[in-house]
Amino acid sequence: MLDSELEYVLIQKFAYYYANVQHNNAPTNFFYSIESISDRITDDQQVIDIGCGINPFKGLIQNLIGIDLVDVGADIVTSVESFQPTKKFDVAICFGSLQFGSYDYVLKQLMLIDKFMNEKSMIIWKFTPNDYVMHDDLDRFPLSEDILNDLAKKFNYIQSHFMHNINRQQDLRGYTTWTRKN
Ligand SMILES: C[S@@+](CC[C@H](N)C(=O)[O-])C[C@H]1O[C@@H](n2cnc3c(N)ncnc32)[C@H](O)[C@@H]1O
Repeated sequence: MLDSELEYVLIQKFAYYYANVQHNNAPTNFFYSIESISDRITDDQQVIDIGCGINPFKGLIQNLIGIDLVDVGADIVTSVESFQPTKKFDVAICFGSLQFGSYDYVLKQLMLIDKFMNEKSMIIWKFTPNDYVMHDDLDRFPLSEDILNDLAKKFNYIQSHFMHNINRQQDLRGYTTWTRKN
């Protein structure tokens, strides 16, 4: 189970965020734009968007389930910790959702996610780089290329397409892809 205090804080903060923050879309030809990712996913792939927020991939990806703590568009309103999957997934999209709390906490979340991923699968990450200070006082674990690479290895994934500090109108983000072949 997600630590109830952290869950309470995240729900409050993200409810505020969705009520007040305007979404800042990346150019559609950017490798990690919603459109580019959707184009690379085939109709036979089962996809989960973890911490989907407004569920931006809905309608663009055929077999998609979006889950989130906050009820602003998710197909299932749940924490990843309480999620009860009825199938396994080929692709997990973790856009800005897996870096709250400590390293051990993120590791625990990944252990749960790993259980519902197929052996051959992919995890696509968006994260706040460790050298960028967000001003929303959320307790983020500082992710870097090396830390993500070590985490990938723990779960037998290979990290690729790492992009750090992508500046889209002052909105600094990192992205990476984990792929597991068998
Ligand atoms: C920064 S927002 C990103 C939303 C969306 N993925 C995007 O890129 O626009 C992070 C989202 O992750 C969700 N989240 C954080 N921790 C979560 C958890 N343990 N289980 C499910 N959702 C979570 C939050 O509620 C929030 O909607």
